[in-house]
Amino acid sequence: MRILGIESSCDETAAAVVADGTRMLSNVVASQTALHEETGGVVPEVAARAHLRALVPVVRRALADAECTWDDIDAIAVTAGPGLPGALVIGLNGARGLAYARGIPLIPVDHIEGHVCANWLIPAGNAGIPGGAAATGADGGPPELPALALVVSGGHTELLMMREHGKFERLGGTRDDAAGEAFDKVARLLGLPYPGGPPISRIAATAEVRKLRLPRAWLGESDDFSFSGLKTAVLNLVNSEGAPPAAEIAWAFEESVVDVLSKKAARAAEREGVASLLVAGGVAANRRLRERVIERATVPVHIPPIVLCTDNAAMIAAAAFRHLDDAVAPESALDIIPTAVRRGRRWA
Ligand code: KG4
Ligand code: ZN
Repeated sequence: MRILGIESSCDETAAAVVADGTRMLSNVVASQTALHEETGGVVPEVAARAHLRALVPVVRRALADAECTWDDIDAIAVTAGPGLPGALVIGLNGARGLAYARGIPLIPVDHIEGHVCANWLIPAGNAGIPGGAAATGADGGPPELPALALVVSGGHTELLMMREHGKFERLGGTRDDAAGEAFDKVARLLGLPYPGGPPISRIAATAEVRKLRLPRAWLGESDDFSFSGLKTAVLNLVNSEGAPPAAEIAWAFEESVVDVLSKKAARAAEREGVASLLVAGGVAANRRLRERVIERATVPVHIPPIVLCTDNAAMIAAAAFRHLDDAVAPESALDIIPTAVRRGRRWA
C-alpha cells in the first residue's frame, strides 16, 4: 500500500511516498529556514503563506522521485496537529483537495506520533539518505515493542510508552519550554541564528575550557522536564560582568540539556522494562544527545538518521499506515487539531 504523506505543521513543507508504512520511496522537504532567520523564529502568517506556495511543487516532486503516478497512490496522510493553526490548515485542505480529486481516502495524523514512526522507515528507491540509512545504535532490525519514546522537538518534549502500534501513553513531558525551544532561545541570547540547535552544537564543539556547570532540573522521580530555569541561568550569565565566551556557555548548556534528557529517558526505559528506547524529533539530530542516550540506555536504542529527525512527511505516511481505520472520505468534515490529537480520542 502506497501512502502520500503531507506535512506542514511548522516551517517545513514536506511530501513523501511510503510503501507499507516502512519503505520510503521519496522524501521531499522544502525548508523555510531562510525566511525565518531574519525574525529569529517562525512568524505563523509568513509560514502559512510559504506553505501555500510550496505545497503543489513539493507534492509533484515527491511523486516524481518515487516514480509514481497518482494511480499508484492508495491514500493521502496529512498532519492534523499539533502545530501552527494557519500552517496546518494549508496542508490539511491541500491534502483534502487532492484526495477529493483522486477519489482516495484521507488519513489525519498526529505529528508527534509521526516523529516516533520515523524509527520504522527504510530508505528505498530514490529516497537515499546521506551518510547511510542505519539508525544510530540500532541493530539493523525494526524497534521491538513495547518501547519508550523520547520525543524532543521545537514544540515538544515528551516521554511516551508505546505498547502497540498506534497506542501511546504519556508518562511525562515538559512543564515549560520544549528542549528545541530552549536551544532556539539560548541561541538567540548568544547571537546565533535560528534554528538554534545546529549552531549551538557547532560552537559548543569549539569550547576550549569545559568547566562551566549550568543547572539541571531533575524534578525528583518525575518523568517531567523543565528547561526555563536553565534558559534564565544562561540569560543571567550572558548579562553578567566577565561572562565566559559564547562557546563555553553553549557547551555547558548543551551538556545540561543532554544530561537530563538522556538520564531520564534511560531511567524510565529501565523502570518500565521496555524492549527498546526510541528517540525522535528535531533535537534527536543532536550528536551529543545521540551519544549519551546510547551510553546510558540498558535497552537497544533506535534513533532515525538525522534527516528523518527534523520535520518530514515520510514519518507522517508511516504513522498513517498504523491508523488505516481512521481513514475518512475527503468530503467529510475534518478539522485541524492545533493543540494535540493525543488529548482527544487517540491518546486518551
Ligand atoms: O521536529 P522539528 O523539526 O520541528 C518541530 O516539530 O518542532 O524540530 C525543530 C527543533 C528546533 O528547535 C531546532 O533547534 C532543533 O529541533 N534542532 C536541534 C538540532 N537540530 C535541530 N537541537 C539540537 N541539536 C541539533 N543538532
Ligand atoms: Zn516536528
